[in-house]
Amino acid sequence: MQTPFTNLTFCIRTFGCQMNKHDSERIAGMLEGLGALPVEAIEDADIVAFMTCCVREAADTRLYGQVASLKNVPLRTGTPLSKRIVAVGGCIGQRDGEKLVEELPHLDVVFGTHNLGSLPRLLEAAIDEGGHQVEVLDAASSFPTELPTAREHDWAAWLPITIGCNNFCSYCIVPYVRGREKSRPLEDIVAEAERYVDAGVKEITLLGQNVNSYGRDLYGSPRFDEVLDALDATGVARLRFATSHPKDLTDGVIERFSSLRSLMPALHLPVQSGSDAVLAAMNRRYTRAHYLELVRKLREACPDIALSTDVIVGFPGETDKDFEDTFRLVDEVGYHQVFTFIYSKREGTPAAKMEDAVPHEVVQGRFDRLVNLVQSRAFEANQADLGAIVNVLVEGASKRDEGLLAGKSPKNQTVHAPVPPGTTARALAGSIVSVRIDEAKTWYLSGEVVNGR
Ligand code: SAH
Ligand code: SF4
Ligand code: F3S
Repeated sequence: MQTPFTNLTFCIRTFGCQMNKHDSERIAGMLEGLGALPVEAIEDADIVAFMTCCVREAADTRLYGQVASLKNVPLRTGTPLSKRIVAVGGCIGQRDGEKLVEELPHLDVVFGTHNLGSLPRLLEAAIDEGGHQVEVLDAASSFPTELPTAREHDWAAWLPITIGCNNFCSYCIVPYVRGREKSRPLEDIVAEAERYVDAGVKEITLLGQNVNSYGRDLYGSPRFDEVLDALDATGVARLRFATSHPKDLTDGVIERFSSLRSLMPALHLPVQSGSDAVLAAMNRRYTRAHYLELVRKLREACPDIALSTDVIVGFPGETDKDFEDTFRLVDEVGYHQVFTFIYSKREGTPAAKMEDAVPHEVVQGRFDRLVNLVQSRAFEANQADLGAIVNVLVEGASKRDEGLLAGKSPKNQTVHAPVPPGTTARALAGSIVSVRIDEAKTWYLSGEVVNGR
C-alpha cells in the first residue's frame, strides 16, 4: 500500500525518562506501519523527531542547540523531499508549543505528550502544505498505549499502566507536562502483557510516574498489587516496575517481593532527601522514618533486594544539617545505585518561587561528597555477589569488547562474561544464562558462563 510515508526515512532522538523512550517506540511503530524506514543517523533521515525532556534545565538547553544545528545537515541523496522535516514532541513540545517555532523557525511540527497519535497527520500536512504544524492538547483523549509499538529489543517490553502524575512535588515539572494521573484498565494491561509473552518477551517493566497509585482514578482505591499478581500469572520470566512513590508503597506490594515468582529483587524507591524539613518543603508527604521503615520491611520480605534511589541536592533552603541527614540516610540504606541530581529551578513549579537558593559552590561540594559515598556503598553492595551464580538476561555484546556478553542480573546489575565458544553475544541476546561471579566492581559484575539456557 502506497502512503505519503512510503520511501521516506526517519530517525527519533529521545531524551528523558522511560515514558519518553516508550512514546518513541510508539511513534516508530506508527511510522513503520505507514511504510517509513527507521535509520540511525540524522544525515540519512528525511524526518527527524525529537522526544524531549524538561525535568532539569540541562536537557532543555541541549534540545534548542540540537535542533538549531540541524539546519546545517544536508539532505540525503535520493530523498523525495525538498526539505528535511523536523518535529519536536514530548515534554518541551507540550510546555512550549508555538514558542518553539518562534525560536526555531525551521521547525516543521510540534506535538505534545497527549497527542502522539496525531504525529502522522501533522507530518503529512508539513510535507504537503509546508508551514508550521503545531498541535498541543491539554489532556489525552485516549490512552497512547492503544497505538502500535516498534520495540527496541524483542525480549524486553515497557508497559505503561498509568500516565500523568497527581503528586505535584514542589520542584517537579512533570505533572504540568504530562497531565493528571490516568490508569489503564487492568484487562488492557493483561492483554498487552499476554501478547508480549506469546511473542517471546522475557522481561516486562511496568511504567508510571507513581505505579503504586495505579487504579485510584478507575476503581476508587489503588490496585497495584493486583496488577503484579495478574502479570505474574502471564508466565513472564521477569517483572519490574518504575517508579514507586514511598508514600504509596503498600505492605501488599512489599509482600509480593517474597511471594511472586517473576518479580525481580530490585526496587527504585526515590527518596529525594533524608531531611524531614526538606521532604515537607518538597511536598513529598512522607518522613525519613517512614522511608527507613519501608526499607526495613522490604529487606524483611526480600533480604537480597537491591535498592536504588534518586536524590536532589541543593533544594532551596537546604542547610548543612539537612544535607547531613541525606548523607546519613544514603550511608545507612546502602543502595546499589543512586541517581544524584543538582536541584534545577523549573519555572511554574512552587519551588521556583522559594527563596534561600543554596550557593552553587556549596551545592557542588555537597554533591561531590554524596557521589563519593554512593560509589563506595555501591561497590560494597556488589561484593555480596562474589562467588554467586546469577541468572543473566543477555542484552548483547559489551560496548567495549565484542568477545564479552553484557546483560542484567535479577538485581538489575550489569554483568559481563566472555562469550562461550561456538556462539556470539548477538546470538545469545534475549536468553538467560548462568554466570558465576568472580569480580564485583562499582557499576558491574563479571564472571564466567557456567551453563547457557
Ligand atoms: N515520577 C518519578 C520520576 C520523576 S523525574 C518519581 O517520582 O520518582 C526523575 C527524577 O528527577 C526525580 O526523582 C527527581 O530526583 C529528579 N528531578 C525532578 N525534578 C527535578 C528538579 N527540578 N531538579 C533536579 N532534579 C529533579
Ligand atoms: Fe514529579 Fe513527584 Fe510526580 Fe515524580 S511523583 S513525577 S517527582 S511530581
Ligand atoms: Fe523528562 Fe518528561 Fe520524563 S520532563 S523525565 S521526559 S515525563
